[in-house]
Amino acid sequence: MDRASDRFALADGNFIPCLGFGTYLIDDPIVAYRSVADALELGYRHIDTAAIYRNEESVGKAVRDSGLSRSEIFVTSKVWASEHGYDRASRAIDASLKRLGLDYMDMCLVHWPANAKNYSDWQAVNADTWRALEQAKADGKVKTIGVSNFLVSHLVSLQDNCRIMPAVDQIEYHPGLLQPETVAFCKSNNILVEAWSPIGRARLLDDPTLNSIAHKHGKSVAQVCVKFALSQGVLPLPKSTHRARMAENADIFDFELDWSDIGDIEGMEEGKRYGSHPDEQNFCAE
Ligand code: A2P
Repeated sequence: MDRASDRFALADGNFIPCLGFGTYLIDDPIVAYRSVADALELGYRHIDTAAIYRNEESVGKAVRDSGLSRSEIFVTSKVWASEHGYDRASRAIDASLKRLGLDYMDMCLVHWPANAKNYSDWQAVNADTWRALEQAKADGKVKTIGVSNFLVSHLVSLQDNCRIMPAVDQIEYHPGLLQPETVAFCKSNNILVEAWSPIGRARLLDDPTLNSIAHKHGKSVAQVCVKFALSQGVLPLPKSTHRARMAENADIFDFELDWSDIGDIEGMEEGKRYGSHPDEQNFCAE
């Protein structure tokens, strides 16, 4: 990968730009519009939003106003955890499309799996939600369908109950939380892993190991984190509302991490999550 617009091939035959721009916690409409417009100007070609981020209108408008052709930009949104089940998820997809003001989404994800804590029949609930995504793909509303925050148990159960396997699993992934079981399962099943919070919500910026790697390459810790994900074949989705940081996070194609850097980062593993654990997540359809 040499630039943000270079693409990974997905299992369904579609292609996805290798660096995404995350929009979690950018809910102010003006800031969201400006951030996405800046990201597109800076060369990002992949924007990641979700119904729960409450910025789909601004994201869609920035995409439409960008002057780029629609086919150059990859837009992902997600069905929120309160919308499990076929009917609710179908309506949620239509509502996201309407808010985005787009004819289609490049990708739609199930934001969180139904889990055993919330549903006695979580396997059936996930399968039912997934059917809505399969139907949206068949109807041309969505080009690629995937999941987010699915662990191996959720993926295995879906595998037994679906027509199309998810092409993507978007998980929390950063130094300290590399989720090796989920990543290995995805790799062996041709599911592309995307990394949310690839720089650990900025809480890794003072880490001594990452600082020494960054110093060695003349790059920042944020750049080392984004590059690390890519080096592992994982698609990073860094978020920033600051144009200079957006540019910095995309300026990662002029250096390579070596085997000792990778080993040092793997050695930081401690299963440290900054977000929720998918089996502890407490959202439930009303
Ligand atoms: P801000 O939006 O104010 O720039 P992650 O993508 O891992 O969740 O991290 C997002 C957090 O990291 C946000 O708080 C963001 O703040 C901050 N951030 C993003 N890029 C950088 C960077 N290059 N340097 C420092 N902080 C950054």
